[in-house]
Amino acid sequence: MRTPIIAPSVLAADFANIQRDVEMLNASDADWIHIDIMDGVFVPNISFGLPVMKAINEHATKPLDVHLMIEKPENYVEAFKKAGAEIISVHYEACSHLHRNLQQIKALGCKAGVAINPHTNVQLLEDCIGDIDLVCVMSVNPGFGGQKFIENTYKKVRQLKEIISDANATTLIEIDGGVNKENAPKLIEAGADVLVAGSFVFNSENPIDTISSLKSV
Ligand code: DX5
Ligand code: ZN
Repeated sequence: MRTPIIAPSVLAADFANIQRDVEMLNASDADWIHIDIMDGVFVPNISFGLPVMKAINEHATKPLDVHLMIEKPENYVEAFKKAGAEIISVHYEACSHLHRNLQQIKALGCKAGVAINPHTNVQLLEDCIGDIDLVCVMSVNPGFGGQKFIENTYKKVRQLKEIISDANATTLIEIDGGVNKENAPKLIEAGADVLVAGSFVFNSENPIDTISSLKSV
C-alpha cells in the first residue's frame, strides 16, 4: 500500500501546552501540521487565528497545512502566508471566484488547496483541477473535531482520483475528519494521499505511536 502523508490537526492539541505538543509532532513521523482556522461565520465555531498560528510556526519544523474555514479568504491568505503557511486551502463553498483565489495563493509562493464540504460534488472541480495542488475532501461537516466519519467519502475519493488522472494532474487528495486506523487503509486504497487526524492522534495514549501506525497502515 502507498505510504500516506500524515497531517495531525492541532485543533485537538492542548492549547495551554502548544509548544510541547508541536515539539511532539516535530519528533514524530508526521509529515505536515494541519491548522484549522474557523471564523464563526462560514462554520458555526471559532478556533484560533493568526497570533496562535505564528506561535505554532515558531516551534514547528514541518510544513504548516492551513485549512481556512472562513468567508472571504482572499482578504487573509497573505497574512497566513506571512504567519508561516506552506499550503493554504480555501473552501469551494466560500469562493465565488475560486480560480482567482487559487492564483492568488500560488502568487504568494504557497501550494493552493480547495476544501469541499460533504455535500459538494467532486465533479465541480473538473474545470480547474490542473490549478489545484490539493483537494481537501471533508469527511465530516467542518467546524468541530471528534465527529463521525461519513462513509460516502470513499466514493468521492474514487471519483476525484479519476478526474485527476484523466486530466494528467498531480493534485493530492487529502481527507479531513474522523480519520482513524479502521478507515485509513480503505481511504488510501480509494486514492487518498494525505490523512488529517485530530482527536485520533491527540486523544490516544501515545500520539507518537498513533502517528506511526497511521503512516504504516
Ligand atoms: C474539522 C477540521 C478537522 C478536524 C479533524 O472542521 O477541519 O481538521 O480537526 O479532527 P478529527 O480528526 O478529530 O475529526
Ligand atoms: Zn481541517
